[in-house]
Amino acid sequence: MTSFPWSVAQDALDVSFSVPQTMRLRFTKECFGSDWDEVQSLFHADHQKARVQFWVDRAVVEANPAIGEELQRRLIGSSDRLELTSPVRFVLGGEQIKNQEQSVEEIFRAIDADGLDRRSYVCVIGGGALLDAVGYAAAIAHRGIRLIRFPTTTLAQADSGVGVKNAINAYGKKNWKGTFAVPWAVVNDQSLLSQLSDRDFVAGFSEAVKVSLLKSSGAFRFLCEHATSIARRDWDAVMVAIRSSVLMHLHHITHGGDPFEMQESRPLDFGHWSAHKLEHLTRFRLRHGEAVSIGVAIDTVYSHLVHGLERSDMMATLKVLTELGLPIFDPAVSSDALFDGLEEFRQHLGGRLTVTMLRGVGGCISVHEIDRKAMLQAIEIVQQYSEARTLG
Ligand SMILES: NC(=O)c1ccc[n+]([C@@H]2O[C@H](COP(=O)([O-])OP(=O)(O)OC[C@H]3O[C@@H](n4cnc5c(N)ncnc54)[C@H](O)[C@@H]3O)[C@@H](O)[C@H]2O)c1
Ligand SMILES: [Zn+2]
Repeated sequence: MTSFPWSVAQDALDVSFSVPQTMRLRFTKECFGSDWDEVQSLFHADHQKARVQFWVDRAVVEANPAIGEELQRRLIGSSDRLELTSPVRFVLGGEQIKNQEQSVEEIFRAIDADGLDRRSYVCVIGGGALLDAVGYAAAIAHRGIRLIRFPTTTLAQADSGVGVKNAINAYGKKNWKGTFAVPWAVVNDQSLLSQLSDRDFVAGFSEAVKVSLLKSSGAFRFLCEHATSIARRDWDAVMVAIRSSVLMHLHHITHGGDPFEMQESRPLDFGHWSAHKLEHLTRFRLRHGEAVSIGVAIDTVYSHLVHGLERSDMMATLKVLTELGLPIFDPAVSSDALFDGLEEFRQHLGGRLTVTMLRGVGGCISVHEIDRKAMLQAIEIVQQYSEARTLG
């Protein structure tokens, strides 16, 4: 009989165990050009050709048709190692894909029709929304197919690409249906960002500001000093900002001790209780990154009013967000329904309401109640600052 550390007489066992996981993150300049070998090495052939399926955000190739052509050429040229199980699929990305249950059903059907298995690869090139929807389907099909993400927005490269979450929206709530799953690999490629609209280009840096406020005063200072160059697409500054943001997110996920969010506190969701609600209240007129900018602005001011964050740090945060070209206020913020976001946030987490606030730059705390009066005051301060900037 196999020996094990328990007695057959035991009626109660609490067995803790851990499973090693690997997330492969690559930074490339031209993933379907000179850096293709790096990309190709991510597909482990396991005694046979790697079977791959590709999903591409249509907006990416509309903005930059060369990317679609290069990808197709590379896939044909690599047919000795990779087997493309069906033609590359170009689909409509953006939040709408997360709002339609049928999009996930279509992805399931395609996975089934191609006969993908757990050693196959589902590759997705797109913004955070498409990554989330395809990642969700890939995590569920066969209980998990290898997923390779190629994020194409600054937000997805600075944050969600290395996230271990994926989801679609349901019942009028963000990310209601979803799973935790570690992606096989993430390729952060500079060329994929080249044709992004100005609006989507700056949107992602709200997550970079957010994570720097939580984790690193040095990274925060860098963003403050380079905000206008980043908004003008000075690529040196842009890539430092994206790299430091994604590395802080990656470190939190892999070394923070709670990748699957079993505990109450979720620091990476700083500013998100209102951001998620604002996305819905504006029917997704606001991008996620824009809503996060507003949420971070409000919670930073609240942190000053209630939790002792220095006024200079509060002012620097409002300044860096506006210099990046991000909104810090929207009329929807004044809706009473905004506060429903707190209860939805609590429900999503379960247990007590737990919201992250700042004590200082690089130091956060978890709080379990929000002083509504102080929050309304924080909103008013943000609104005044935003109006003064617009007029000035
Ligand atoms: N899973 C996670 O951990 C996590 C973390 C943060 C955010 N998210 C999710 O990510 C989503 C937001 O992602 P996003 O900000 O990337 O927005 P998005 O995916 O909605 O993309 C914005 C728009 O840009 C287009 N686009 C994408 N790449 C392009 C390119 N290179 N050139 C031209 N157009 C392009 C898209 O089609 C879309 O219309 C939200 O749904 C959010 O909830 C997930
Ligand atoms: Zn976010």
